[in-house]
Amino acid sequence: MPTAPAAQLPSASAQGFSDDGRFWRGMQVIARGANRVCVIDPAAPGHCLKYALPADAGRRRPLRHRIRDAWADLRPARQANALELRAWRGLHARLGDRLDSHVAACQALVDTPAGRALRCLLVTGADGAPAPSLYALLFGSGRGHYPADALCDAVTRVEAWLHANAIPLFDLNSGNLVVVERAGRPELVCVDVKSVIGGKEIVPISRWSRRLMRRKIARRAKRLRERIRAHAPLAGVQAGH
Ligand SMILES: Nc1ncnc2c1ncn2[C@@H]1O[C@H](COP(=O)(O)OP(=O)(O)OP(=O)(O)O)[C@@H](O)[C@H]1O
Ligand SMILES: [Mg+2]
Repeated sequence: MPTAPAAQLPSASAQGFSDDGRFWRGMQVIARGANRVCVIDPAAPGHCLKYALPADAGRRRPLRHRIRDAWADLRPARQANALELRAWRGLHARLGDRLDSHVAACQALVDTPAGRALRCLLVTGADGAPAPSLYALLFGSGRGHYPADALCDAVTRVEAWLHANAIPLFDLNSGNLVVVERAGRPELVCVDVKSVIGGKEIVPISRWSRRLMRRKIARRAKRLRERIRAHAPLAGVQAGH
């Protein structure tokens, strides 16, 4: 088979993925996010590893992102994995094990043959497989598995928990939440809490004022429910799975 010119190769290959995208540097991919890849930890059963992806040379990135990454390179404490670990530790110090059913536990930054990674507890379904993200249930293979109403109710329960504990988790997007089934209904577990400390605001007043925090969480939860309703119109009516 003729070799494709480099420009025609799937851009992911340049970042260390197998051609079918199922493996990254030989490890089984759970999901690829915007800036990181999450893989099954080959050294610790029941855990996953998150690696920062090298910038994809073939993709044009907004100046804002390039500046943010250059800044993070200079200050490792601002890198996504370090932020997430710090955010999780802060929450765990406040809430202890009560956090576990709502947020995937982060363990440590670890050095591995593929580089530095964040090791977290893998959230799984009853079958032991990685729990699907809400994103996958809206746009991927899990589409139609749960009725939109049930997913929206799960968002409302997360929202109530955030309000009750005054947690400024503003990045309520469908890729940061995975879905598990408890007592026959879907529940959301957050797998990315870095927004608790990694705010985009220059002056983070919504973290200082309870009232503003409440309003912002409510706005984000409402937006997520709207997204679910817009993108899961077939949910619950597909046969079988
Ligand atoms: N602890 C976990 N258990 C199960 N799946 C996970 C876990 N952590 C991450 N995932 C999977 O990986 C995906 C991406 O995770 P995450 O949000 O941490 O990375 P990211 O979004 O790429 O990071 P960034 O927000 O910096 O772009 C999730 O949607 C989920 O499918
Ligand atoms: Mg994320």
